[in-house]
Amino acid sequence: MTELTAQKQTTLDQIGAATTLDALEEQRVAALGKKGWVSLALKTLGSMSPDERKEVAPAIQAVRGEVAAAIDAKKGELESAALEAQLASETIDLTLPAPDMAKGSVHPVSQVMDELAEIFADLGFAVATGPEIEDDWHNFTALNMDESHPARAMHDTFYFPDAAADGGNPASSSEAVGQKRMLLRTHTSPVQIRSMKEQGAPIRIIAPGRVYRSDSDATHTPMFHQVEGLVIDRDIHLGHLKWTLETFFKAFFEREDITLRLRPSYFPFTEPSVEFDVGYANEGDRRVVGGHGDAPGHDWMELGGSGMVNRRVLEFAGVDPDEYQGFAFGLGIDRIAMLKYGMNDLRAFFDGDPRWLSHYGFSPYDQPTLSAGVGARP
Ligand code: PHE
Repeated sequence: MTELTAQKQTTLDQIGAATTLDALEEQRVAALGKKGWVSLALKTLGSMSPDERKEVAPAIQAVRGEVAAAIDAKKGELESAALEAQLASETIDLTLPAPDMAKGSVHPVSQVMDELAEIFADLGFAVATGPEIEDDWHNFTALNMDESHPARAMHDTFYFPDAAADGGNPASSSEAVGQKRMLLRTHTSPVQIRSMKEQGAPIRIIAPGRVYRSDSDATHTPMFHQVEGLVIDRDIHLGHLKWTLETFFKAFFEREDITLRLRPSYFPFTEPSVEFDVGYANEGDRRVVGGHGDAPGHDWMELGGSGMVNRRVLEFAGVDPDEYQGFAFGLGIDRIAMLKYGMNDLRAFFDGDPRWLSHYGFSPYDQPTLSAGVGARP
């Protein structure tokens, strides 16, 4: 028994001195393991007389209990110390800068809109906006397309269910209902009306944004993007329009050899009306803007519509057509984005495929600026 007590004391001392879980485990095996001294002591009980056993057995069990309790206590101590150490070593310093990881990218349409704004801002244009859910009056009537105008039919308009008609207002004439009829704007031209009504003349704005037409194939999607331009002042003429478009395209495509061709056309809201084409060359399966469209290996590509704002439109917008006149143009943003950055299927623009975006998208750090270049490469 004295031997047992001595051994117990040694073991308790060593448990107390253990600094690692491994050292502690060694003590556990040496004492309580199959061949440990406590286990061996228990085995001696078999050869004892019943009386002797009655006396010794509880003593050995007590030693066993003491040793086991000491190990448990020490184990808890070491484990919580280890946890504290781990927590201390894994602390995150939230004040450190974020790791340099590429996340998301700027869609080519957004990029081109930023480029447009940058170039036109330099020419003194402000950016104007209007609602995509537009009323009939702003989208058509005020642009000199009354109810019966055949040009309306060419717009493949998405109309909303006629809210005013079932509103049960007996006073509303059918004409008033017609004017209030809501639709998804078919072009950005209604922003001309809204801007002139708000700001009057003189005015110099561009209005980029989404437009909608019920039309869809490889080159048409039901939603697409246009940018409208409007300049109203005294003494504005068609020459200003041509210079403005040429200056814009040179800056946008970053080349000097841009040739524009104005072709007579018809829009109800401009008079005279011209469509503008740009010369391009086929290089492989890519169209590259530049050069004269009639030169060998070249052709003309239509980019948009324009003209001198019809005096009827100025009247609708509250601007005196005897004092002011000016030009307007509209052009497809998606198309010039495809031309500049070399995509050939418009539909992929709006599929939301992250692989397409990471290929054609732009870094948010590449802000288009006239000094650094409006032609960031993906
Ligand atoms: N709104 C016309 C269209 O969508 C384009 C245009 C704008 C034409 C301004 C003339 C002047 O087709």
